[in-house]
Amino acid sequence: MCGIIGYAGHRPAVPVVMEGLRRLEYRGYDSSGVAWLRQGEMHVVRAVGKLGALEERLARAEGVVTPVCAMGHTRWATHGAPAERNAHPHCSNDRSLSLVHNGIIENYQELKADLAARGHVFHSDTDTEVLVNLIAEHRKTESDLLHAFAAALRQARGAYAVCLMSVDEPGVLYAARMSAPLIFGLGTGEHFVASDIPAFLPYTRQVVFLEDGDMVRVSAKEYSILRLEDMQPAQRGVETIQWDMQAAQKGGYRHFMLKEIFEQPRVVADGLSGRVDAQGGSVLLHELDALPVPRRLHIVACGTSWHSGLWGRHLLEHWARVPVQVEIASEFRYRESLLLDKDDMVLAISQSGETADTLAALRMAREKGATTLGLCNVVGSSIAREAAAVLYTQAGPEISVASTKAMCSQMLMLALMALYWGGRQGVLPAEEVRRNTEILKGIPDVLAGALPAMHARARELSRAYAGARNFFYLGRGHCHPLALEGALKLKELSYIHAEGYAAGEMKHGPIALIDPSFPTFVLALNDALLPKVVSNMVEVQARQGKTLVLAHEGTAVGGDDLWTIPFLPSPLAGFVVLPALQLFSYEMADYLGKDVDQPRNLAKSVTVE
Ligand code: F6R
Repeated sequence: MCGIIGYAGHRPAVPVVMEGLRRLEYRGYDSSGVAWLRQGEMHVVRAVGKLGALEERLARAEGVVTPVCAMGHTRWATHGAPAERNAHPHCSNDRSLSLVHNGIIENYQELKADLAARGHVFHSDTDTEVLVNLIAEHRKTESDLLHAFAAALRQARGAYAVCLMSVDEPGVLYAARMSAPLIFGLGTGEHFVASDIPAFLPYTRQVVFLEDGDMVRVSAKEYSILRLEDMQPAQRGVETIQWDMQAAQKGGYRHFMLKEIFEQPRVVADGLSGRVDAQGGSVLLHELDALPVPRRLHIVACGTSWHSGLWGRHLLEHWARVPVQVEIASEFRYRESLLLDKDDMVLAISQSGETADTLAALRMAREKGATTLGLCNVVGSSIAREAAAVLYTQAGPEISVASTKAMCSQMLMLALMALYWGGRQGVLPAEEVRRNTEILKGIPDVLAGALPAMHARARELSRAYAGARNFFYLGRGHCHPLALEGALKLKELSYIHAEGYAAGEMKHGPIALIDPSFPTFVLALNDALLPKVVSNMVEVQARQGKTLVLAHEGTAVGGDDLWTIPFLPSPLAGFVVLPALQLFSYEMADYLGKDVDQPRNLAKSVTVE
C-alpha cells in the first residue's frame, strides 16, 4: 500500500509534494521519491528509508524550487525489496516518461517478457517500471500520450492508482485508477491527485472521488476526466471535505485501530487478488510451488500471530491433512523439540517480520535443517529475508499497536495454504476447493455490510459490561483461538483482566472463579460443536455467571445478552467473529478512556526477547 501525489499549479511543486508525502507516510515508508521537469529533462530523486532520507537528498539537488509541476511516492514494497532501484518514480528507458504507482499489476511478468523482446531494459524488480515502458511503447503508435496511457492501462491486469509525467508536456499530469484509491483535488489555479485527501488538505477541500476506470489529464488551470473504456468524458461531482487534519490522517476514524478494523473487507479482497484460478478450483501460491508439501508443519509465532497459527491449524489439518504443531516462539526456541526434523517445515508468522523470538525460532529451525517459510506483512523484514520462502499478507501498514487487520490477513493466507496443499496433494477435491474459495470471495461484501451494525452493537455491549474487572472468553474448535484473541485484545486495550479458554476446560477448574461479577463472552456459532458450547454456557449461568453470547443470526442459543452476526460456514465464520471481538475491545477501551492506539507498556514491533 503506497502513497502517491501529483501537483500542477502556481506554487513551487516539489515542496508541496514533499509535504503531501509526509501526510501519506502512514501508507508506507520503506523508500520514497519525487520527479519534476526542468529545462526539458526529467529529474528524479529517490531514497531508501523514511522521508527524512529523501529530504536530505533533495537539499543537495539543484533546481528544486522553480518547477510548478511534480509528483511523489512513498513506498510500501510489494514487488521487489526496499532498495533505491525499486523506489518510485520509475522512468521509461528513454527518460521521456516517469510514473508513480500504488497497486499490483498482476500480469507484469508477461508484459515484461514482451517488452524485453522489443528491446526494453529493466533496472528494477517492479511492475511499475514495466508499466511506464509499456506506455512508452504505445506512444510510438498512438496519436498522443493520453491514448498511449489508456492503451497500456487496458493491457494491465490488477490494481493501480498511477500518476504520469512527460518531458513533452511540461506542467501536465496524467492519472488513473483501478481498484486503488485516487482522489482529485481542485484548488484555485492548482490541481492535485493523491492516494488520500490529507496529502493536499492544507490547499483545498474541493475533491472529486475518482472511480475505477477514470483517467484525468490535469494542468494548473484545466482538467478533464475520461472513462478508460471509451475515452468519453465522465461527469463527476465535486465534494467539499469537512474534516480537520488530525481526523483526516486517520481516514476520518477516531483511531487508527478503528480504521484498521474497518479496512478488513479490503484486506481480504486484496489478499485474494491473483490467488485463485479463473475456475476457482485451485489456489495459486507460486511461492510454495518449489517447496515440498510438509510432512509435518511447525508454526511458530507470538501474541496475535500465534492465535492465527492456532486457528490455521484447524484448516491445515482438516483440508490439507498436514499434521500441525503450533508453538509460542519464545518457548519453542529454548525447547528441545524431538518432533522437529529436517523433513519438516517451520512456518514463522509475524506481522512485523522482526519479532525477536519468532526470528530466533526460525533460525533454530533452519540450523536443524528444516524448510523455513515466513508469513509476514512487512516486506523485506528479517523473517521475510531469512526464511527459505515467504508469503506476504499484503494488509498494508498497521499503525495501531494492537494487531487487527494483520490477523485477518494471516487467517486468509492460512486458509489459502490449506486449500493449496489440500488440492496439490489430491486430498481435497477441486469441488471443495471451489466451494471454499467462493465463500472467501464473498467475505469482503459480507464484512463491509455487517461492520457498521457490529460496531453499534459493540458500543452498546461495552457500556453494559464496562463495570467488569474480569472476563472469560470461551470457544471450541476453530473458535478457541478466537476466544484467546478476544481476551488478549480486551486486556491489552482496556486493561481488564481476561482469559480465553477452551469451553470444555471450564469445569476442570476455572469455573470456580464464576460469580455474578465475572462475565463470560461465549462464541456460540452455528456448527457441529454448538450443542457442546451451549452446555458449557449453561454451566456458567447455573453459577450466576452473566453471559454475552456471539451467535449466528437466526440461531436460538440463549444467554443474557445476545449479539448476532451474519452466517458464514465454519471454520471461515471466524472472519466475521474476529472483527466483533476487536470492536468490543476497541469500544470498551475508548469508553474507559484508554489510549487505544498506543496502549501502555506495548510496542508495535517486539525486537527484544
Ligand atoms: C497484539 C499484538 C501482539 C503481536 C505480537 C507479534 O495485539 O499486536 O501480540 O501480535 O507482538 O507481533 P508480530 O506479528 O509482528 O510478530
